[in-house]
Amino acid sequence: MKSHALRPLFVVIVVLVIILIFRTLIVPKDFGIHLRDTPFGSYIWGYYRKGDEDYWKAFKVKHQTMNYCKDCHSEQYKKIINSKHAKVQCENCHGPAVDHPEKPEKLNIDRNRELCLRCHAYLPYRTAKYELRGVPITLKMQDPDAHNTGIECVACHSPHEASLK
Ligand code: HEC
Ligand code: HEC
Ligand code: HEC
Ligand code: HEC
Repeated sequence: MKSHALRPLFVVIVVLVIILIFRTLIVPKDFGIHLRDTPFGSYIWGYYRKGDEDYWKAFKVKHQTMNYCKDCHSEQYKKIINSKHAKVQCENCHGPAVDHPEKPEKLNIDRNRELCLRCHAYLPYRTAKYELRGVPITLKMQDPDAHNTGIECVACHSPHEASLK
């Protein structure tokens, strides 16, 4: 091979070596493939940082789901599970419960039209028929500019009963 072909090859090799040196310097020592113990054995492989395991183990789940609310807010719970909103999680409207009622002491109550329009706004490009966890849904949509403009939805509709008040 002539030198005009060797020279660029040499440059490429030097660049590769620099990248490799740089990588060994900046990638943490405990980053790599580790065996994970699972109830099904330790055959799950992962490419991750060992030192992060404790961080994720200590990570606090912020949503609690409906079951968590039922003893303290049984009135709302009973209404909702017997309504068309039965599949809508409380925290979808009230925000994550985390350690409520300690922290936060109260969850947010949002009475804005936007809360409902997140799901009920008529969208020309989406059909109102879809599946939610395997259950077919015919979601009734409303045109925000035509359906009782300027008045909060909850002035007329009960959010927990998904019906007129
Ligand atoms: C251990 C009992 C307990 C649990 C569990 C609990 N709450 Fe509460 N919640 C309270 C108490 C106490 C208050 C404050 C007093 C009040 O306003 O009723 C409160 C307040 C609220 C408020 C504000 C009420 C208002 O009038 O301002 C909302 C909304 C709420 N909770 C929703 C929820 C949801 C949703 C869940 C489930 C994810 C939940 N809570 C779980 C006890 C509980
Ligand atoms: C579709 C949204 C939505 C869902 C789902 C929802 N809420 Fe509400 N919730 C509201 C709105 C809006 C209000 C305020 C109603 C009003 O002022 O007329 C409210 C009010 C409340 C209040 C204050 C007292 C009352 O009844 O007005 C509590 C407590 C509450 N919700 C708990 C819950 C719990 C517990 C669940 C689940 C079992 C739940 N909510 C599910 C939207 C929702
Ligand atoms: C997270 C999405 C979501 C939000 C937010 C939501 N809804 Fe719904 N809503 C649904 C679903 C899903 C249904 C059930 C459709 C079905 O089963 O046919 C429903 C059904 C209803 C129905 C009954 C329609 C019928 O078929 O008879 C009314 C009324 C209603 N919602 C009003 C509201 C109001 C008012 C709010 C705001 C306080 C609200 N919704 C917020 C998802 C939502
Ligand atoms: C001034 C009162 C009023 C306000 C405000 C209002 N609605 Fe309605 N809504 C009605 C009436 C009345 C109906 C017709 C009920 C029927 O035909 O059975 C209706 C029907 C609906 C339906 C279909 C329910 C069904 O059984 O066919 C949905 C969903 C709905 N509204 C959602 C909303 C949403 C979301 C908002 C806020 C953006 C809202 N509404 C604001 C009075 C109101």
